[in-house]
Amino acid sequence: MKKLTSTLVALATLATAVAADSAINALKITKSLDKVDAASSVWKGAKFSTVTLYPQTTIEFNDKKANELNADNKAVQAKVAAVYNDKKIAFLIQWPDGTKNVQQGNKTDSYADGFAVQFASNYANPAELPYIGMGSEGRQAVIHLQKQVAKFYEPNGNGDVATQVNPNQTDLFEKDLKKFNAKVDTLASSDYEKSYVGEGFRSMTEIKDGSDNATSSMAYGKKAWSGTLSSSLKDEYVDLNAAAIPVAFAVWDGEKMGRNGLKYLTSWTAVVLKKGDDTLVNALHGKIEGDAVKGKDSAVANGCTGCHQMEKTDAANLMGPSLTNIGGYSTVDYLRESLVNPSAVVVPGYNRNAHSNYAWYNVTEGKRVSTMPDHSWMEKADIDNIVAYLKTLKAEVK
Ligand code: HEC
Repeated sequence: MKKLTSTLVALATLATAVAADSAINALKITKSLDKVDAASSVWKGAKFSTVTLYPQTTIEFNDKKANELNADNKAVQAKVAAVYNDKKIAFLIQWPDGTKNVQQGNKTDSYADGFAVQFASNYANPAELPYIGMGSEGRQAVIHLQKQVAKFYEPNGNGDVATQVNPNQTDLFEKDLKKFNAKVDTLASSDYEKSYVGEGFRSMTEIKDGSDNATSSMAYGKKAWSGTLSSSLKDEYVDLNAAAIPVAFAVWDGEKMGRNGLKYLTSWTAVVLKKGDDTLVNALHGKIEGDAVKGKDSAVANGCTGCHQMEKTDAANLMGPSLTNIGGYSTVDYLRESLVNPSAVVVPGYNRNAHSNYAWYNVTEGKRVSTMPDHSWMEKADIDNIVAYLKTLKAEVK
């Protein structure tokens, strides 16, 4: 009896630990989605779903202050609504943030609040979606990003602020500066809104060919941000005309010096446009096979902890990415693939503190090959158990 009780307790804890967000139901509307912000009437009737954003802990930053600020990050819960018409799809995401942080153009120690919405260029096979942190080789992601920046003036219109006059050098630029400030007043914008197509961190290419007509907005009030994105259902990079599409959300907290991979992000989440095909919903939100308790034993026995920090209480380990939040921002299929085919998606980055003999990947004939051993020899049940365990690795919600 005692054994049964403890098993039941263990099962109950794991059941709550693996409870994931559900799919988002998009509402079809006839109104135009050309100009959308949080106050638009298009959100009337749309249903909000909860999504959970987990601190991305893949790579330890080379920044002591930022690491300290982010050491105890909890997950953030946001509300998301989605609407679409014949041409466009729009999202409204609202997330709590106690402080409004706007990046000041001339200060390197100033960081912005921001958000991103990510689509997969090819999602025909839900088991092979792009790497969640900005796509991966051969698996393209389209990322729409908006950040809060102070008003700036770009004389060349290239999004290049490096050529600005430094306003602190009044002795040098007295006259120029007056002219410049007058121009800033009339021409400046604070609209930092960009779209990228990426196959991994180092391949982020800004979409500037005009094919992308996405627009976004951000508004702060009552200690929370509201961000909106309106994007074509079909452009050169992605065709979103399907029963359901995978979408991921990220937010940055400027107060915690958030930038690049120092952010909060969801796993791929299904957004349902038409009823009838549950393939994607089941793949991203379905039941998790396997026994997490057995999986933990198996992970230790198979040496995973020799390369990975798995639980927050484990010491940092530079041999591989930290897995302390991997269950929050990874799909079950991604985790399985990481084990049985490590080079299918190679985490695009490495810890700069790592010893050069322990790189996360090597480049062989132009292709990245993971240094993680292939575990495809394992029994399916054992892999299922480890995957179930990995899904429990995530910070609790704030
Ligand atoms: C020899 C070191 C090593 C061992 C042992 C190892 N890994 Fe890895 N693992 C890595 C490296 C390096 C990467 C990053 C490169 C890549 O994407 O494959 C990685 C990546 C991963 C990822 C993807 C992480 C992310 O952020 O997306 C997961 C999940 C993972 N490993 C799980 C495991 C599990 C579970 C085990 C034990 C069965 C294990 N690893 C054993 C080195 C290792």
